[in-house]
Amino acid sequence: MKPVLIAFLLIASVACTTQLYVPGESNIDKVEKASLAELQQGFDLYQNNCGKCHKLKNPGSRSNVEWKRALEKMAPKAKLTNDQSYLVYRYLVNR
Ligand code: HEC
Repeated sequence: MKPVLIAFLLIASVACTTQLYVPGESNIDKVEKASLAELQQGFDLYQNNCGKCHKLKNPGSRSNVEWKRALEKMAPKAKLTNDQSYLVYRYLVNR
């Protein structure tokens, strides 16, 4: 393949995927009290349960209040328990 085409494909593939942050030390207790393990669980739950009906939305795309409201509506759709929903919430807001 020509280098130009390869470069184009790389850019296109990056542009089409949501860039989710991977929780690290700097995200602990940032907004909501959450350990690294809890943030990682939230990250896994989010990736595995929230991208089935629509694309995963970037954590930075909504305010904390908007995420709270969205989760009230979406957690039942995704069949998450309250505890699981709260883990996802903490992942989404501790960005
Ligand atoms: C069973 C399918 C389904 C699952 C699973 C699902 N969603 Fe949704 N989601 C929808 C539909 C349908 C809409 C658009 C209509 C609406 O807003 O109710 C939507 C809309 C949204 C919106 C846009 C509304 C807004 O307030 O901006 C957000 C954000 C969202 N979903 C987040 C999530 C999250 C987070 C999860 C995981 C907990 C999730 N969704 C799981 C079906 C789903």
